[in-house]
Amino acid sequence: MSLRKTLQPFAVLLGALAMSPLAAHAQDVDVKIGFAAPLTGANAGYGKDLQNGVQLALDEANAQKIKIGDKVAHFVLVAEDDQADPRIGVQAAQKLVDQNVSAVVGHFNSGTTIPASRIYEGAGIPMIDPAATNPTIVSQGFANAFMVISTDAQNAGTAGAYAVEVTKAKRIAILDDRTAFGQGEADEFEKAVKAKGGTIVAHEYTNNQAVDFRTQLTKIKSTDADLLFFGGLDTQAASVAKQMKQLGLRAQLVGGGGVMDPEFIKLAGDAAEGVMAWEYGRPLAALPGGKDFSQKFKKRFGVDILSYAPFGYDAAWAAIKAMEAAKSTSPNAYRATLKNISFDGVTGHIAFESTGALKHGSSTMYQVKNGAWVTVVTKGS
Ligand code: ALA
Repeated sequence: MSLRKTLQPFAVLLGALAMSPLAAHAQDVDVKIGFAAPLTGANAGYGKDLQNGVQLALDEANAQKIKIGDKVAHFVLVAEDDQADPRIGVQAAQKLVDQNVSAVVGHFNSGTTIPASRIYEGAGIPMIDPAATNPTIVSQGFANAFMVISTDAQNAGTAGAYAVEVTKAKRIAILDDRTAFGQGEADEFEKAVKAKGGTIVAHEYTNNQAVDFRTQLTKIKSTDADLLFFGGLDTQAASVAKQMKQLGLRAQLVGGGGVMDPEFIKLAGDAAEGVMAWEYGRPLAALPGGKDFSQKFKKRFGVDILSYAPFGYDAAWAAIKAMEAAKSTSPNAYRATLKNISFDGVTGHIAFESTGALKHGSSTMYQVKNGAWVTVVTKGS
């Protein structure tokens, strides 16, 4: 038997090994992408929606066999439930750090995101925020805090200016839930109203567990307010709308972020009609990849987008693209490419200010007409 013939079976075996999944995996690298949001409790719907957005990005990146350096990356989602609770949010952040995630997409509530951002900063892990909007998140001077969504200085600030200049409200009232989000947006709204020469006739408070707002609404009614800005999320906004109707307030209800979704209309019923709400960015359907994204999402998860899923998707892609460009999953190596990232996401153009804030923020106002949210106006770049 010739030497060639003797070696042939080994060559076949080596060839087969090279083709086998085992060999392919030897060339792969697992990349853990952390995710934290409320996955139980009253805000779980928002959290699940965001998680689906992140998962869709990871699925696509895995299908594309993106290379980080000379290895094909396999992105794995590591999810933690922060229960919308600041204390549990910090624990969730620490768990993600302990699991050596390369980046974090999160959180949802400003109240969890602000304290969690300190944990990620301490560990040197980039946090890409897809939903929490208190301006503090990017004003702490952190090197690891990034936002793919505008802050409430933009969104509630725009709402305040619009209330005075366009709605021409003369007697403006505010009710907020005293969370870092609700209070933050109420304060930005109030600042903008005053800057435009508007009059605030009442600023009342609740908490994010309350279901009865009649005491505050009765006080607001006595001020004869013609516009009420609510700083809080969809479930409570729906109860506010219903109780305003029951008590016969004449004020126009205006919501900030987290109100413009199908859940609000479902819960508020008839009282939803005419309600206005400001959301971050442009309407998804008007963006180039918006329709395609909505269809992909529905096909993959069997449900429609609730609200912030597209931002979760863009946040995950920002991390993936930065790692790919830096040829590394190590935060110290890819942080600089993340800071300079520039790409067209599904929510619009993604690029960061030196603070980590989203460049080119915009806000859109929607209104419920005939039982559905319709777009009224977009402001900003
Ligand atoms: N934008 C909301 C917040 O900051 C979800 O909590």
